[in-house]
Amino acid sequence: MQTDPGGIPAHQPKERTVKVAVIGVGHVGLTTAACLAADGHEVVGLDDDEGRIDGLQAGQMPFFEPGLDELVAEQAAAGRLRFSHEPGEAIPGAEVAFICVGTPTRHDGSPDLSAVQRAAATVSTHADGPIVVAEKSTVPVRTGERIKQALALEAQAHGGASAHEVVSNPEFLREGTAVEDTLRPDRLVVGADSERAHAVMRRLWEPLLARHDCPYVATDVRTAELIKHASNAFLATKISFINSVARVCERAGADVETVADAMGHDPRIGRAFLNAGLGYGGSCFPKDVQAFLHIAGDLGYDFGLLRETERVNREARLWPVAQLRRLLWNLSDKTVAVLGVAFKPGTDDVRAAPALDVIEELSAEGAHVRIHDPVALPNVRDRFPEVTRAPDAESCLDGAHAVLLATEWDEYVALPPARIAELLEYPIVVDARNAWDTQALRAQGLTVARVGAPQVELLPGL
Ligand code: UDX
Repeated sequence: MQTDPGGIPAHQPKERTVKVAVIGVGHVGLTTAACLAADGHEVVGLDDDEGRIDGLQAGQMPFFEPGLDELVAEQAAAGRLRFSHEPGEAIPGAEVAFICVGTPTRHDGSPDLSAVQRAAATVSTHADGPIVVAEKSTVPVRTGERIKQALALEAQAHGGASAHEVVSNPEFLREGTAVEDTLRPDRLVVGADSERAHAVMRRLWEPLLARHDCPYVATDVRTAELIKHASNAFLATKISFINSVARVCERAGADVETVADAMGHDPRIGRAFLNAGLGYGGSCFPKDVQAFLHIAGDLGYDFGLLRETERVNREARLWPVAQLRRLLWNLSDKTVAVLGVAFKPGTDDVRAAPALDVIEELSAEGAHVRIHDPVALPNVRDRFPEVTRAPDAESCLDGAHAVLLATEWDEYVALPPARIAELLEYPIVVDARNAWDTQALRAQGLTVARVGAPQVELLPGL
């Protein structure tokens, strides 16, 4: 079989091809659609945002995700990936319909599932045969049952009975590495309540399993739904744990990086997700932790550990402001250069980005905030009209009283310490991601505050 450089078969026998509709072409949906097409399936991406679909049809990406633009273009050119805003074009003939719509947080912390229900109704209205409806959006446990009910009610309303099945097939992709995470996942989780649905999903994932060895967890729908929330809540808790250890290190005069490295040597703990810093942000962790806490409460269990995870995360976001206050004394009329607004490097996503809270807090205290980000600046245009956007990192630093590293983009990490010292008005560096070489900066006469490290004084001896 012919393969491309990534080891993905260029063709596969027709009988192994599954016709797929992906409802909602956001980060998760578009990546899932392109990767399934790359594995030989016939995929239509459906979205009711006509502008987004028109853009995709014209080869324009709705967001930045490394490698996804090439993959989408390649699969569209190969005829395996199409886009439509007409359910009548996307749903008929599909064997599997993935629901990848947004599940935003409501005021009470519960996820708003109205788009999921609308997607189910769309499937029911336009299907011309039984479809396996697969939840990809992160949803509360037992949402599968609600989708099944919605399908049955829709069918009944039109004088029929639903033959559709509902499965849970959560994704674990990270923004910035979404394509790689989807093409070569750590595990595939499929929850279904019938042999037939399991068989269809197994056929869908067979091409991936043939080229990439990973555990295939076949379970029931409720368990699969819980796996996703439990995974994200655990990772978020791991981050909050190390941020709490950082607070103790600061007070005790110890170093959290070394603590994390040594803890990470224990394979039961592992070093990943033990980076102390500004806390977690993004479109998943904050929303998922809140939703899981809410779901557990609804089921009669107070998952207090997650409330504490959230509290520690809020506290982590304020750490750099406290440092700047300590080092600059008064923040009013001080110019603070903030490097990075994206919630992490490799993405232009600013949803729940910790840097936004920091910028807001600094502005509220009267500081002149100057910001830079290699890709995310357009996404904060409306949010901070009063904040200066620098065209590059160096002009962001030029004449500032302090610099705050908020997102550890490679280009910031690579800034020469001597240049940083030359550009700054006052020699003050707050490294909220512990990404800079502190010794090299200090050798240039800079005062560097790091997360989870002994507190630094501005002018030692005074
Ligand atoms: C996450 C999960 O990793 C993924 O499996 C899930 O499907 C979606 O949510 P993502 O939101 O893209 O993916 O970001 P991730 O790389 O996990 O980082 C989340 C946040 O945690 C970022 O703000 C990051 O800066 C922060 N983080 C991560 C830390 O503060 N410390 C760490 O050690 C790791």
